[in-house]
Amino acid sequence: MRFLKLILLFVVIQAKAQQGGMWIPSLLEGMNEKEMKNLGMKMSAADIYDVNHSSLKDAVPQFDGGCTSEVISPKGLLLTNHHCGFDAIQSHSSVEHDYLTDGFWAYKMEDELPNEGMVVMFIVRIEDVTKQILTGTENLSETEKQKKIQENMTSLSNSFPKESWQENKIRTFYEGNQYLLFVTETFKDIRLVGAPPSSIGKFGSDTDNWVWPRHTGDFSLFRIYADKNNHPAAYSKENVSYVPKHFLPISMDGVQENDFNMVMGFPGRTTEYLPAVAIEQIVNELNPAKIEVRDKALKIEDGFMRKDLAIKIQYASKYAGIANYWKKWIGETQGLKKSGAVQVRKDEEKRFREEVIRKGKTAEYGNLLTDFETNYKEIAPYALARDYFNEVVLRNTELLSVGYKLYQLEQLQKTKGEQAFTDRKNALANGLGDFYKDYNKNVDEKIFSELISIYARKVPTPFLPSALSGIDTEKLTADIYNTSALTNYDAIKKLLSGDTQTVITNMNADKGYQLVKNMAETYMNKVAPKYDEINLRITALQRTYIKALLELKTRPRMFPDANSTLRVTYGKVKGYKAKDATVYESKTYLDGVMEKYIPGDYEFDVSPKLIELYNKKDYGPYGEAGKMPVCFIGTSHTTGGNSGSPAIDARGNLIGLNFDRVWEGTMSDIYYDPAICRNVMTDIRYVLFIIDKFAGAQNIIDELKLVHPKKKR
Ligand code: ARG
Ligand code: ASP
Repeated sequence: MRFLKLILLFVVIQAKAQQGGMWIPSLLEGMNEKEMKNLGMKMSAADIYDVNHSSLKDAVPQFDGGCTSEVISPKGLLLTNHHCGFDAIQSHSSVEHDYLTDGFWAYKMEDELPNEGMVVMFIVRIEDVTKQILTGTENLSETEKQKKIQENMTSLSNSFPKESWQENKIRTFYEGNQYLLFVTETFKDIRLVGAPPSSIGKFGSDTDNWVWPRHTGDFSLFRIYADKNNHPAAYSKENVSYVPKHFLPISMDGVQENDFNMVMGFPGRTTEYLPAVAIEQIVNELNPAKIEVRDKALKIEDGFMRKDLAIKIQYASKYAGIANYWKKWIGETQGLKKSGAVQVRKDEEKRFREEVIRKGKTAEYGNLLTDFETNYKEIAPYALARDYFNEVVLRNTELLSVGYKLYQLEQLQKTKGEQAFTDRKNALANGLGDFYKDYNKNVDEKIFSELISIYARKVPTPFLPSALSGIDTEKLTADIYNTSALTNYDAIKKLLSGDTQTVITNMNADKGYQLVKNMAETYMNKVAPKYDEINLRITALQRTYIKALLELKTRPRMFPDANSTLRVTYGKVKGYKAKDATVYESKTYLDGVMEKYIPGDYEFDVSPKLIELYNKKDYGPYGEAGKMPVCFIGTSHTTGGNSGSPAIDARGNLIGLNFDRVWEGTMSDIYYDPAICRNVMTDIRYVLFIIDKFAGAQNIIDELKLVHPKKKR
């Protein structure tokens, strides 16, 4: 019996051990490949990454810097999320052609729409260059060492062999314990091919964001164009559709609970190796501060948006942007608390301390954890002041963020001189037109008054700007919003006209500008330098800590934190227990869309065409037992940047499109708990159903390679 229990425990640990992590595709052989095969993968590591033959990585480019996409046809057709293509879709929209509301479909290639400035980047090869980068850095001081590393990186990226149309990029892993060089190919002629209406692509909007069960068809389609040699080229009519080295076949067989799946993409940033003291700071101080500021800003915007359609249009995108991370931080804080992340890390740290002593490494690592504690304690007030400055000044009060641009302009005159000042001034004066188009003074004034009051109360006293000590918020708000040129475009253009001295004098006479300058100078003098200094020490400690963890192996699964480079994460399709008595299944269906349907609602409206298809159960070959699958969840470890990533089955076929995570598991950037962390994907058959049955874009379906991997065997 005891023995059986032991075996059971082992099995549980094994099952748990196979979860979490974002792995480097060129280094999967060995541990990862074995785990993936145990989970059901039927490919080899070389099918995922290979330099001599085409492999999965050749079909997965980074999309426009921040998202991921995948090539799904021999003619360079690209699939990504609706929220990743959102800006492009919006920029082609007008009152006559409202592609956000109605969707857009190119029924012939001539109708595809170019997008200035949009790029997609493929990874050609990955090389470990740690040795070269760290050459000559031994025995240097921290600052000297960083300088030498920068020099080595520049010279190696200039000299490493590549084709003329490719780029070399070197990125840091494990906080500087490993360096990898990426040879990349960046395509610059990317055209919009299709997008569903927002009522499908953004169904559920902010209410459903970060939440399961989900019913969003979060996809859009683009196409890569290349020159006649199939190389990257700027937009040209002469360009032709790109012929990919590989494109993903699409599985028509769907997924079942426990199916293996992997997600390949470009996760942006995680911090999985923070000491407990840092997590405590996030949970208790930093997240609550940022949430409080955004809470206020969002409530005010929402109040205005509900009453005034023009304001609703002006603030919709800003609101969504602020709300996305506001909501994430709330979920993250709850999840970290509920999963006991701080205690988990404290227990690990106890093991770490013991191991340091056992291995006789006290000279090297003995002080690490206490040094973390000292430094995190010291940085606390600076970190808090920094977050308030970022959130109140740079992010959420529009008058202050515009004012900060003027402050930078004035600084530019001091550091770079007359010409730089004039160039930036003119660019600002032109560029601000777009900003003021979506600016409403009443909304901003209300936000200002609330956020300034938070700032005055919450920023640690030594860092409080003189202008805010003992203020009468109401009076200050009225003074500024009644007089400042920063509240409208004509006035600010006027403020920025004239010779340098006039502009600077006039700026400094403006009450709004005076306040921003006082806030910025206080921050720049009293917070930023000290914050940077302590932060540099923390970064160095973190590097040593990760080196020690790699060496002593007290953390079972070591993978490098996300850094916007190509990664592979894998797991199973799986539901989860969200809370007491609440267990979620792993798949949703169109029935759920209809359950959420609120006619005319801006988040939950459903288009008549979709309702008709639902009523007729007209799902073509895409349905499953009379129902239309919409989304599913799995245990892959993803983060921001994985949006648009392909979910791939055991044999390398596309089965889904990653776009979000579940509420209880948003803390996975800091602590991945396999019990509740799930990534959310749109079922690829829902994408096909919308393209085919909803949009009637047979031309797109014809390009795809649809396969039945399960039925064949
Ligand atoms: N939460 C997802 C991600 O972080 C989707 C965001 C887009 N959707 C939205 N409602 N804002 O980016
Ligand atoms: N929605 C995120 C993205 O845009 C994905 C995530 O954070 O899970 O990349």
